[in-house]
Amino acid sequence: MTANSAIPGSTALDPSLEAAMTSLREARAEALLEFARIPSISALPEHAADMVTAAEWIADRLRGLKATEVEVVKTDLHPIVYGKIHEAPGAPTALVYCHFDVQPADPLDLWETGPFDPFLEDGRFVGRGVADDKGQIVMHLYALEALRLVGRAPAVNLTFVFEGEEEYGSDSLFAWIGPNRSRLAADVAVISDTTFFEGNVPAITVGLRGIMYAQIDVVLSPVDLHSGGYGGAVENPANALARIIASLKGPDGRVKIPGFYDDVVALTPDERAAMAALPFDAEAYREETGVPALVGEAGWTILESKTSRPTLDVNGIWGGFQGDGAKTIIPAHAHAKLSTRLVAKQNPTKIFEALRDYVAQIAPPGVTVTTTYIHGGEASLTPTDHPATQAAVRALRAVYGVEPVFMREGGSIPVTAAFDHVLGLPVVLLGFPQPNCNAHAPNEWLSEANFESGTRVIARFWDELAAMRR
Ligand code: BES
Ligand code: ZN
Repeated sequence: MTANSAIPGSTALDPSLEAAMTSLREARAEALLEFARIPSISALPEHAADMVTAAEWIADRLRGLKATEVEVVKTDLHPIVYGKIHEAPGAPTALVYCHFDVQPADPLDLWETGPFDPFLEDGRFVGRGVADDKGQIVMHLYALEALRLVGRAPAVNLTFVFEGEEEYGSDSLFAWIGPNRSRLAADVAVISDTTFFEGNVPAITVGLRGIMYAQIDVVLSPVDLHSGGYGGAVENPANALARIIASLKGPDGRVKIPGFYDDVVALTPDERAAMAALPFDAEAYREETGVPALVGEAGWTILESKTSRPTLDVNGIWGGFQGDGAKTIIPAHAHAKLSTRLVAKQNPTKIFEALRDYVAQIAPPGVTVTTTYIHGGEASLTPTDHPATQAAVRALRAVYGVEPVFMREGGSIPVTAAFDHVLGLPVVLLGFPQPNCNAHAPNEWLSEANFESGTRVIARFWDELAAMRR
């Protein structure tokens, strides 16, 4: 059974709250479209002002919901939005986190309309950020709008932190968390930035991979050289880079950097059995992805490989002549961006150092090779039996009428580990888009059914959480 059967007319909420939800449907959709029109791309400096516009948009909404201490916090890069609705004395406090930045939208020609010209058609919102992660911010805001409409306050205390650098490594938020620990005091963190399971099965994510992102630059000379006059006499940086990259990972999917696997916590037999029991159809996943074949890590299933095993991928590679026709040169330089996805207990800094040292060791003479750290974040794991996780299970069950699954996610949300380690909070990862929502790709979409039902899950979750022991 999937999420699509749930809405409209959920009986998970009391009738007046459900009526409020129903009456807000159009406004809720309009709010998402409006929000998604703001091109808040954190990675591109020319969108810095849009980051502020998006932050102000959220802050205005929070003020409209009678949140207190609403603030658009300036940072070294993009703002953080903070606010509180603490109207439930004695009840637990949840720290609610989502991000309002989005990934770059290129290649633009593959979008049905412009990436920031979102629309709702055939039950889908389409536009950059509708799933990752603006739709989920709007779900949180409209769970509260509905409560306010019926004159209710959320049954738990809510502290909001919305960040603008999640897609760019979260540096500013990392720096802000420590000094603002007391403003972030809570019993649980709730992060809505994950998805349902394949097939649109309601899910709670209990594991995220970490990340270490780096760049390798290989430099030969100040300018390109004639490949006839110099070929054979000098090292070619593109060839050298290709050899370096080829040495990083084998065809069996194993990363060859010495020490890379040293700190990996292996999946237990029970965890492997639980994963094998999930309704994952590898062939359907392959077909939908449009790839000719899936390649996992030797000895591990596809689902294990993509969620629970560390890996390494080149994200981009360039250098030399790329125009039409031919040009006979030896490129002056060549470059690659690459990222490793990490699992507990791998440390991004340690992994970077291992990469840097290995690259230095295998770099050929005749070129200058440098490896630069770009960003990193740790993996995280949540115990499934935590009372807050169980409250989320009850909320999902109430809205969908099915048992949600626990899944691990291969993507990363760097702040998750910081909420755990720095603030000491258990984290509930409660997200609603479908996993094939084209996040980071053209025509990103969010099903309106999931948007509608997700908003109800959130409202129900606050009630379920209120029943949790502090
Ligand atoms: N929402 C994603 C994380 C995610 C990915 C959840 C796939 C569920 C499925 C998040 O916004 C994201 O993309 N994070 C980046 C973090 C990185 C830039 C530090 C990622 O995983 O690439
Ligand atoms: Zn996201």
